[in-house]
Amino acid sequence: MRRHVKGNVSWVGYIDWELEKFHGDDYSIMNGSSQNAYLIEEGKTVLVDTIWTPHRFDFVENLKKEIDLKKIDAIIANHGECDHSGSLTALMSEIPNVPIYCTANAVKSIEGQYGKRGWNFHIVKTGDTLEIGNGKKLIFVEMRMLHWPDSMATYMTGDNILFSNDAFGQHYAVEELFNDKADQCLLWKEAMKYFANILNPFAPLLTKKLEEISALNLPIDIIATSHGAIWRDDPLQIVKKYAEWANAYQEDQITVAYDTMWEGTAKIAHEIAQEISRQSPSTVVKVFNVSKADKNEVMTEVFKSKAIALGSPTVGNSILSSVAGWLEFARQLKFRKKKAAAFGCYGWSGESVKILQEKLKEAGFSVIDENIRVLWTPSDDDLGRVPALVGSLLE
Ligand code: FEO
Repeated sequence: MRRHVKGNVSWVGYIDWELEKFHGDDYSIMNGSSQNAYLIEEGKTVLVDTIWTPHRFDFVENLKKEIDLKKIDAIIANHGECDHSGSLTALMSEIPNVPIYCTANAVKSIEGQYGKRGWNFHIVKTGDTLEIGNGKKLIFVEMRMLHWPDSMATYMTGDNILFSNDAFGQHYAVEELFNDKADQCLLWKEAMKYFANILNPFAPLLTKKLEEISALNLPIDIIATSHGAIWRDDPLQIVKKYAEWANAYQEDQITVAYDTMWEGTAKIAHEIAQEISRQSPSTVVKVFNVSKADKNEVMTEVFKSKAIALGSPTVGNSILSSVAGWLEFARQLKFRKKKAAAFGCYGWSGESVKILQEKLKEAGFSVIDENIRVLWTPSDDDLGRVPALVGSLLE
């Protein structure tokens, strides 16, 4: 179970090849995931994080095979969310007095989830340290709202390991543990999906935090995340990528997203896509029916896009519920500096385009005036308005 990371640091987590959903059903897992926990055995023995609640008893039993639990001098709880704190109840029933180092907000979240159990919390702030023997120490760095109020990272001197918790992670099962062993295509795809769907709302905070961490001038040999690959080959590559992603990231891409009732709105969607390629052959175009495509995968494509076109027919004086739910998630993700256009068919009242435009504005998109609002089935004349809409999106 134990896997060597560096020096006297081992991985003691759980690789979950079967996980399909995360955050309830809100995040799709396509390539497995992991909850990474770490054991430091210097002068002091320190456990960094645990694993998700359903695996708590296995976690404790496996840990017992590696060490006498009574040797654990301290537990670091970088984050209170249950995928990292979920084994504490089982673990603390064996070693109830061991100090747990965490932020003040983590005490609230841990006690909020598991009740007040009289655990020996030691509240830490940015810059606080814990000597762990052999001339090494842990330095704590609060990561407030990245992505919970309680989040923090822990830096280990000597071996120069940053235990970053959720930051820089991916929902991606890597049996070989390290980034240089991972499928590079999947690694970066999953890292971006994780950023777009979980961290993007906090991008401005992240930019400041990355500057703060870099100002500390700490050498970093390894970034030991809590999900997916451990970054040991050029670990700063993911830090640089985060700085890029946090800065209103976009590529030369436009995403067309829609749902349709009787194919009229779908016809407009595909005409828009083809027109983008006609007017700008170098622009990548992606088309998704939001009621069929995976929401998180589509949002990752929106994250990469400089503009989107969103379509829904009018139903019940409004828009299709699939598109309404999709827009609500887009609003939460707080995309920045992206254009948007609306389109849709109707039979009589025809509110959908106006509602789409309003909701896209609320979600932070710069909505262009050009739109395609079609009574019944799109005619050649209706589709003749597509080039002007596309031209405006590409400006
Ligand atoms: Fe991996 Fe925010 O928990």
